[in-house]
Amino acid sequence: MRASALLLLSVLSSSVIAAAASAKIKSLPNGVQATASGTTVQITALRDDVLRVRIGQDGKLPEDASWAVLPASRTSSIHVSPDATGFHTASLQVTLDPTLRLTVSDLAGHILQQDSEPILWHGTGFRVTKQKDPADHFFGLGDKPGPLDRAGQSFTMWNTDAFGWQESTDPIYKSIPFFIDLRAGRALGVLFDNTWRTSFDFGKDAPGQYTFSAPNGPVDYYLLYGPTPKQVVETYAWLTGPTPLPPLWTLGFQQSRYSYVPESKVIEIADRLRADHIPSDAIYLDIDYQKSNRPFTVDTDKFPHFQQMIQDLAQKNFHIVAITDLHIAHLPNAGYTPYDTGTAGDHFVKNPDGTTYVGPVWPGPSVFPDFTRKASRDWWGTLYQDFTRQGVAGFWNDMNEPAVFTYPTKTMPDNIQHRIDEPGFQTRTTSHLEVHNIYGLENSRGTYEGLLSLQPDQRPFVLTRASYAGGQRYAATWTGDNSSTWNHLRMSVPQIVNLGLSGFAMTGADVGGFAGSPSPDLLTKWLELAAFQPIDRDHAAKGTRDHEPWVDGPEHLAIRRRYIEERYRLMPYLYTVAEEMSRTGLPIMRPLFLEFPQATNDGHPIDLDAGSEFLFGPSLLIAPNPSPEEVAPYEVHLPPGVWYDYWTGARLDRRALTAARDLEQRDAKQPNKPLLVTPTLADLPVYVREGTILPISPLTQSTNEVPNGPLTLRVYPGQHCSGDLYQDDGKSFAFRTGSYLRIHLSCTENPDGSLALHIDAPQGSFAPWWKQIRIEAYGWTPTSRTATTPQGAQPLQQSGAAWTLTIPAVTTATELVLR
Ligand code: GLC
Repeated sequence: MRASALLLLSVLSSSVIAAAASAKIKSLPNGVQATASGTTVQITALRDDVLRVRIGQDGKLPEDASWAVLPASRTSSIHVSPDATGFHTASLQVTLDPTLRLTVSDLAGHILQQDSEPILWHGTGFRVTKQKDPADHFFGLGDKPGPLDRAGQSFTMWNTDAFGWQESTDPIYKSIPFFIDLRAGRALGVLFDNTWRTSFDFGKDAPGQYTFSAPNGPVDYYLLYGPTPKQVVETYAWLTGPTPLPPLWTLGFQQSRYSYVPESKVIEIADRLRADHIPSDAIYLDIDYQKSNRPFTVDTDKFPHFQQMIQDLAQKNFHIVAITDLHIAHLPNAGYTPYDTGTAGDHFVKNPDGTTYVGPVWPGPSVFPDFTRKASRDWWGTLYQDFTRQGVAGFWNDMNEPAVFTYPTKTMPDNIQHRIDEPGFQTRTTSHLEVHNIYGLENSRGTYEGLLSLQPDQRPFVLTRASYAGGQRYAATWTGDNSSTWNHLRMSVPQIVNLGLSGFAMTGADVGGFAGSPSPDLLTKWLELAAFQPIDRDHAAKGTRDHEPWVDGPEHLAIRRRYIEERYRLMPYLYTVAEEMSRTGLPIMRPLFLEFPQATNDGHPIDLDAGSEFLFGPSLLIAPNPSPEEVAPYEVHLPPGVWYDYWTGARLDRRALTAARDLEQRDAKQPNKPLLVTPTLADLPVYVREGTILPISPLTQSTNEVPNGPLTLRVYPGQHCSGDLYQDDGKSFAFRTGSYLRIHLSCTENPDGSLALHIDAPQGSFAPWWKQIRIEAYGWTPTSRTATTPQGAQPLQQSGAAWTLTIPAVTTATELVLR
């Protein structure tokens, strides 16, 4: 028998074999383990399309624990098929060479990832080096500023209070060590689960390599195979958990400022929003509502009727979100409950000598909860009791990098001690260097879990500034202290898109910019754009000019209101997309390549050609000016297929070249030629994908208000014509026991020219608000202007670009044929 056949035999029998001069490969039921030159590599398959790689020295593998990965996913495994140099699963081939370089391919032999060097050790540190193909494009890594594609750049993970950050600032607030490599149409996700100050280089140092490295901590990374980017995003949600279904009101317009004080100012803002008919759902209380900036207090001089104010605002359909920073004022013997109970429970982080660490933040000298202890998080959660009882609806966990003033590093010293005491982890004391990047994650987790135990049937809303991979399970986030500049408006798109690809699907950027004062035009454009972003929150720094929609006079107000109103009309669609997010992890705001991975001939992401375009859910394409300060023509690159102008309903395709407003005609010979658009201040180009059925509601002034009128289904015929509609009470977890409504819709264009709309039987027991359904069919011409309905034949009406009819709400599967 030849040596290679012998080798194969012995691997198949799961024995230890000598694969080559130096490496010893041992096959495991779920993978392989090998040792060479003091380095041990273990590669296991959690699923056919998910691998975990752990590497250690001196025969030891790192601790099997994670703050990011769900225990059930981390411990799942499948049986793999061993072979001479590794193993394969139903979708991946894994190969280790004698120097322990790893190659992962698909079963057709396309290399997805390949070590170009063995792991490099340097004391406690290490670097993993992969080959970089010129076709590689990298996305994800959370909120890091800069271009959408991370190729050619390097990054550091170190949560930082980055007030005034700009396009080239790194690091900023979050550490999400997850990226997606898109190589010639094949996507591979990489989660480098190391909480220390890690580094990523995507071909900046050496064009043919990309690397990830750390000064300490585990070599522990996960590879998530697509091949589509959508599959990778969904698999990442399987690994780290999806963003939970948010309370409906958090999808409404939110008004904030640092700070609305006193109480009468908060009421004035609320009343003005209602008087000016600006639909809105939330008002934020920034730090000045507190007594001397002390978390979990209320300054009763400025807010003498705090609870009454909250109740009055609730009557007007406003939710209050209160900031509750993590730093607890260092106030011994002063009757300050958070300090007293935290000290009694030994919940604060310590100096190396065992004394409690004290550092300056908003309240002055402060102490810092040790959120890596479950008991401390549980204690933290109890601090919310008074506020939830008083009706505060949401909580804002800011400054949780943690920010500490006066040090040049803007955080606590590296040698501060944390005492990890956590199910699934070895109980041990470690330095801040290991915990820093998960501090915000565990802070928001303490809040989320605390709120859940205080109000078990109410979906919590937590907004956090700092986080780590997996933090989407507990909190929404925003991009921190951006600036009131046109460039920051533009940057909100790649940032929110990359956050969404990194698991954080409920995100926003301070509308109007935090630092500085926006010009009226900038604020208007920002309010237009943010109407199509997951969180629409207007926020401003102290000392800046007022930001509320009305501040620049009636013309600006009319434009701003129109966009906010549009968001509210789209609420049935937005909420349906949010529900999909909560099941699948797919973000609300998406890059074009997520829906159209094959849009280009060579598989490069179409987004790289498409300026600032993005998708709002699967069906709407938003095309803001990539140079937003200009009113000049720019190109819109629509993925192949038919598109409709959202505002006019006009169909844009190679046959019917109907120009919509200021759109120049498409060239019939070059159907994929970009459109040239020149929107004015009041215009934001929005397009609808063919085959969309878009649910729309009558306008309301808040999500609490019951819409008055029919549910509208806008039908845009085309390929794969379908739509979904999800509804529930918007607040509780009753949907988990069947109190929801889900309707699947589809449409077909028949050979005789008629258009059939199928409304599937509703699922779930939730009773929706509508009594009637209005159908609007776009891009389609009737022959006899009638519709067959369960109630008999009905005439079709023409309304703008649509043919319409209205029928009573349906409770069983229904087909309508428009002809
Ligand atoms: C931080 C936050 C900002 C907030 C301010 C005061 O700068 O990022 O949003 O307004 O603190 O709390």
